[in-house]
Amino acid sequence: MEAIRMEAVTTSFFGYGAINLLSSELKKRGAKRALIVTDQFLYESGVANKVGDVLLTANMEYAIYYLVQPNPTVEVVNECINAAKALDIDWLVAVGGGSSIDTSKAVSIVLANGGNVEDYEGIDKSGKAGIPIVAVNTTAGTGSEVTTFYIVTDAKRHSKMCMVDKNCKVTIAVNDTQFMVGMPKGLTAATGMDAMTHAVEAVLSNKSNPLTDKDALWAIRTIKDYLPRAVLNGNDLEARDQMAYAQYVAGMAFSNGGLGMVHAMAHSLGGMYNLPHGICNAVLLPHVMRFNGVNKTAANFKKIAIALQIPNAKQMSEREVITKSIDYMIHLSKEVGITQNLAQLKANPEDFENLGTLAIKDACMQDNPIMPTKEEVVKVYHEAYQGFI
Ligand SMILES: [Fe+2]
Repeated sequence: MEAIRMEAVTTSFFGYGAINLLSSELKKRGAKRALIVTDQFLYESGVANKVGDVLLTANMEYAIYYLVQPNPTVEVVNECINAAKALDIDWLVAVGGGSSIDTSKAVSIVLANGGNVEDYEGIDKSGKAGIPIVAVNTTAGTGSEVTTFYIVTDAKRHSKMCMVDKNCKVTIAVNDTQFMVGMPKGLTAATGMDAMTHAVEAVLSNKSNPLTDKDALWAIRTIKDYLPRAVLNGNDLEARDQMAYAQYVAGMAFSNGGLGMVHAMAHSLGGMYNLPHGICNAVLLPHVMRFNGVNKTAANFKKIAIALQIPNAKQMSEREVITKSIDYMIHLSKEVGITQNLAQLKANPEDFENLGTLAIKDACMQDNPIMPTKEEVVKVYHEAYQGFI
């Protein structure tokens, strides 16, 4: 067994009303001025100001930046950096899902280290810890509040930059179910399948270890049980709570255990067409599982099949356990109403060569259990374009 490094120091609050625990924590830490980083919907629906009210009870001043978009760009990050500098803030408060949290991480790193966000693409490129971040998570998928990853889109190149950096960790994470009950079905499904992909990739990753497996396998079982319920009835508080836990531990698992080819390909795809990250993952996941499903990985597929409670999984052959796990992911994705192929997402097969070139270079690819050739990646894009027939 090789030596293991684990990063897990975020202070985290969970449950309905957990936001109320934030005020005393911020007071203890001496926070003074914050920039809330959010999107227009969460600003206009009053969620951002609700969090702002909590900051006021901690005797903090705050301003709100509310122009974060899905797949946040370098431009958005730069606008936030300028606002943060002008306001002389000492904390960032992300309100939203992965887009708001990742934007805050990028801003935090640039404020502390200088330079431009592009300088930090890759692994551990910054020299010191970013300025502190509160992440008030309003979706259940990215796990960004507990990972050392963030993604920023370079709109000029139509591609995503993947940053893996131990200095970008969120200081305080709030997973308050009251902010998740309003999530529409499509967003619940897409973010939930993102969490499932994190867990599956963490188990198959060549950096997985018993500690990351423990979290990832629990997340797989929990998402299987509760994602369909959360999609069916957004007010099912038990399902919302369980999904909040599952996406969090899936985040811990992949932050330490790595991701793989699904995310490498999804980053390129989402960057090219500005598609939702969770949908890209859900469509690609079974195709990449088929590519990764070889004797070398069969033992890990068996763990996944057991976590999915596939009948007789323990007794199944290597081939069967791989096939059944793939079938289950297709079934789950259909059940929660997700598109089944890249043709429906209006991807253009003429772009697949370029997408393959970008995916091979993505930081997530090196964790995949098998290093594919560019031609193999392009072939998987074509298979996902057709879908399983
Ligand atoms: Fe993801």
